[in-house]
Amino acid sequence: MQIKHFLQFKDLSRDEFEYLFQRTRWIKEQFKAYQTYHPLHDRTLVMIFEKASTRTRLSFEAGMQQLGGAAIYLNTRDSQLGRGEPVEDAAQVISRMSDLVMIRTFEQEIVERFAAHSRVPVINGLTNEYHPCQIMADIYTFIEHRGSIKGKTVAWIGDSNNVCNTWLQAAEVLDFNVHVSTPPGYEVEPERAGLYGTDHYEEFPDPMEAARGADLVTTDVWTSMGFEAENEERKRDFEDWQVDADMMRLAKPDALFMHCLPAHRGEEVAAEVIDGPHSVVWDEAENRLHVQKALMEYLLLGKVSNS
Ligand code: CP
Ligand code: NVA
Repeated sequence: MQIKHFLQFKDLSRDEFEYLFQRTRWIKEQFKAYQTYHPLHDRTLVMIFEKASTRTRLSFEAGMQQLGGAAIYLNTRDSQLGRGEPVEDAAQVISRMSDLVMIRTFEQEIVERFAAHSRVPVINGLTNEYHPCQIMADIYTFIEHRGSIKGKTVAWIGDSNNVCNTWLQAAEVLDFNVHVSTPPGYEVEPERAGLYGTDHYEEFPDPMEAARGADLVTTDVWTSMGFEAENEERKRDFEDWQVDADMMRLAKPDALFMHCLPAHRGEEVAAEVIDGPHSVVWDEAENRLHVQKALMEYLLLGKVSNS
């Protein structure tokens, strides 16, 4: 069987996502009913973190245990990864001792090089360019609350970062639209976002116009991990790109609000929005667990049917 990696959203097809979302639902139902389900008995996931994490670590580690396997945490600080061992060598060694690898790192190129030398599937747990597991969870959350995302409009307010790029890829794969509003100088870079075209997104200089009529309004921190040196400058550049109640009023009355978290209330989102009636951020965070369990099962076992 050819190894399948999940390094960016477009690595999987619409059919595969449809299968994964249906599978997620079944896996989540088992979990909620306290049903034991151990298809990955004796399998080992290695999780490599070069950046901080709460949700990604927890959801992968708990998810692997719940599927009957084990998860091992490595970080740059106390492994040879932080002391200059070539990523290709690390990939050879780690993939001989495990069944699946998840990596959170800086440049996308690092996960691509790791995957090229890995004997086992590799999952991107966030890079500077992409965060595909997050958008799987976000879309699954949208489907749970509102049904299919096809043809719907997602408003992205803020930085054209890894999470934004992944929304844009997802729009092409699953056929919906993204209205993007970034401050001047922070616009989408289609090539960096890995887009095939520009027909699934539109850029709006005014964030209020991007939110108008949207089915989902979403944002993320103004300063992503790895860009901390730009923090003060970004605070000034992004101050008009806060999702607040006035902005939510321009979206559809039943619009959802999402944020991948961690959030900064009073910066990219007002407390009244993230803690208000449109917000589904806690479901969104929980769904990281369920979608990634479906993903790990799929990468290791292919399609299974017991639902
Ligand atoms: N959303 C997300 O990936 O959170 P963590 O940085 O806590 O993993
Ligand atoms: N864009 C953020 C997402 C954190 C989950 C970052 O890269 O820091």
